[in-house]
Amino acid sequence: MVNVQNAIRREAQMQLENKTAIVTGGNSGIGEAIVRRLAQDGANVVIDYVARPDDTADLVKDITSAGGKAVGVEADVSSLDGLRLLIDTAVREFGRLDVMVNNAGIEKRHSLLEADEETFETIISVDLKSAFFGTQLAAKQFITQGGGGVVVNVSSVHEDWPMPGNISYCVAKGGMRMLTRTAGVELGPQGVRVVNVAPGAVATPINDATMNDPEQREKLESAIPLRKVADPSAIGDAVLFVASDAGRYLTATTVFVDGGIMQGSVGL
Ligand code: BGC
Repeated sequence: MVNVQNAIRREAQMQLENKTAIVTGGNSGIGEAIVRRLAQDGANVVIDYVARPDDTADLVKDITSAGGKAVGVEADVSSLDGLRLLIDTAVREFGRLDVMVNNAGIEKRHSLLEADEETFETIISVDLKSAFFGTQLAAKQFITQGGGGVVVNVSSVHEDWPMPGNISYCVAKGGMRMLTRTAGVELGPQGVRVVNVAPGAVATPINDATMNDPEQREKLESAIPLRKVADPSAIGDAVLFVASDAGRYLTATTVFVDGGIMQGSVGL
């Protein structure tokens, strides 16, 4: 009985054993939580970085010293060369790619009237272009190697929910919504799933300004039916679910992980 329970526990814990995942923007915030969760479940993980090489090295060390497998690669995911380098590294180090998590994202708040060309292009490149070509290049790899694969695009409640004063970010996330739906329909017959995980408010550096201002934080949390900002691990758990066999019938859709904020009756 004990053995059966142990076997069940082991099975339940290691859902991605011998699978390889890339997590863009994996060295901080939500990305880091996703990396830790997937590695804990047995995945080999490839993490890109542009800045903070030390944070990436520490994360890789944490994972490898706990018996997991991870590598850090200096790569800018807003360029196709950067994305190709990540995929080549996954294949070279671990033999194949099974899960592509397009998580990299930045947020610089402004309204339509305040927007300037350079900021708009930076946000679209990091948040949307990286996910678009990350999905394309991962799908090509999945099809070449055979056996299907999963793309998880980390969008936001703002893929569907206007946020005045944050328009370029909303445009990028709205683009991810249709990227996932269209690519999911195109790639389904080839066994490739494409799914958005859409976080609400999460305690990460992107939200530092709100989290460090008690009045703003209180206003935000009172708008969330579950009455708290999410810990990044809640998003890591959702990505694991989508990427593993448990999520096998999900594609061309979005899983919202938002504490109910989009349905709440109080505005932000
Ligand atoms: C944004 C946060 C915002 C949250 C809820 C996230 O996508 O990054 O700035 O607080 O959505 O509106």
